[in-house]
Amino acid sequence: TRSKELQHIFVTFYGNFIDTPDFGSLRVRMNTAIGVCMDPSIPENFGKIQFISENCEDPLMATIQYDTSLTEDKIKLVVPSNNSITSFYFPGFIDTHIHASQYPNCGILGNNSTLLDWLNKYTFPTEAALSHLPYANIVYDKIVSRTIANGTTTATYFTTIDLNASKVMAQICSKYGQRALIGKVCMDSNSPEYYIETCKESVSSLIELVDYLENELCNPLVQPIVTPRFAPSCSRELMETIGNLAKNKSLHIQTHLSENFNEINWVENLFPECENYTDVYNEYGLLNEKTILAHSIHLTPEEIQLIKLKQSGISHCPISNTSLTSGECPVKEMFADGIEKIGLGTDVSAGYSCSILESAKAAYAVSRHLAMKKEKPQLKLSVNECLYLATLGGAKVLDMDKHIGSFDVGKSFDCQEIDLISPNSTIDIFEWQVPTNLPNTKSEHTSLNKPEPFRMCDIVSKWFFNADDRNVVTVWVNGHNIQNLNT
Ligand code: GUN
Ligand code: FE
Repeated sequence: TRSKELQHIFVTFYGNFIDTPDFGSLRVRMNTAIGVCMDPSIPENFGKIQFISENCEDPLMATIQYDTSLTEDKIKLVVPSNNSITSFYFPGFIDTHIHASQYPNCGILGNNSTLLDWLNKYTFPTEAALSHLPYANIVYDKIVSRTIANGTTTATYFTTIDLNASKVMAQICSKYGQRALIGKVCMDSNSPEYYIETCKESVSSLIELVDYLENELCNPLVQPIVTPRFAPSCSRELMETIGNLAKNKSLHIQTHLSENFNEINWVENLFPECENYTDVYNEYGLLNEKTILAHSIHLTPEEIQLIKLKQSGISHCPISNTSLTSGECPVKEMFADGIEKIGLGTDVSAGYSCSILESAKAAYAVSRHLAMKKEKPQLKLSVNECLYLATLGGAKVLDMDKHIGSFDVGKSFDCQEIDLISPNSTIDIFEWQVPTNLPNTKSEHTSLNKPEPFRMCDIVSKWFFNADDRNVVTVWVNGHNIQNLNT
């Protein structure tokens, strides 16, 4: 069948497509055909959506109508094995903040630790151990396959200070076919003597990693990201040097910001010349439209304005913020203040789950606690808003929203197939059965004495709250199937 596979230069996906093209909206396209070019001789279209045909009865015909030079033997048709209302395609999740190197500690937080003691007691020793390459190989392989199983098609990773282990991580992402940003952690200050580098070592390791990714690994899906751990771990010289490098090579930047009050006080003491925590990154050349700021919980109005001005993105990490009792990021308030780029991060292992769906649920819960605490119901995030943060919101944070995050012509086909009644699913679905003799009920369902068809928004809601990786059937990145649990 291999030679037959090779003949397929076009894949048409058929079924129900759901995505969130705007903050708060849910777009439902039933019985839809989406055609993806897989012709290596057309690199500018490869892996990208070429046409979308809604309410389509014959996806093969729609494909040939789109391009009459495509004969049937060149087209692969993909249809879910459960092609019904309980299955749909959703954009792959985007994890804008995850520490691959902390995966061994996933689910181990220490009783009532908060950020700074947790870093010293749990995190730095765990990260230091990954300089042993065979161990790094095992850990990184597991976290990448596990995030893919949970529907994550793009992830922004922190590794460790170790150059060679970071190369291993890049190789593993490339092997699996996940879209990834690989951040070798840079830290030359205020760190334990067993887990620190000099400014010179940090910069030269970063340059070598960038060079390795650009000139040796050469996988456009796997890119470097400049990663100063957080202000307390970095000298002014280190931040300025890697900030310049990011600017010259137009690389992404990621770091932590305003997570915990002790951390904020520490930063203010370490950098008295700066106006506030956010200003430290601005002052030393790290704040721009390619910067991803994890947490950003306790920002002042001045800091919010600065982030807005510099068009940096925010990674909301609700599981982590709850676990370390760091606080509640006021996502809705930030959107109202004009910050446009907010996505979700699992923040493994301060976050106990590597699933973005779990993080989306936690964002839903955290927003409700914030709304109750502040007595402002407008701070609540809806299911649709949480799903936006998990996909297109994340794409905006990564400055990749022209390429990923929703199903639109010209975007890469990064997708997960969801099945609520997959063989191992724990979700129970009941048809609406309304008794005809029910007195005076005005529910929208009472006019029916037959089972009413499900509304797709109810199916999506059930998925959001009740599903897990057992409902992820297949995952594609750039049109390639990178995981198929059925085979
Ligand atoms: N701040 C500095 N390093 C870290 C880290 O590894 N995790 C979290 N959550 N915050 C940090
Ligand atoms: Fe983090």
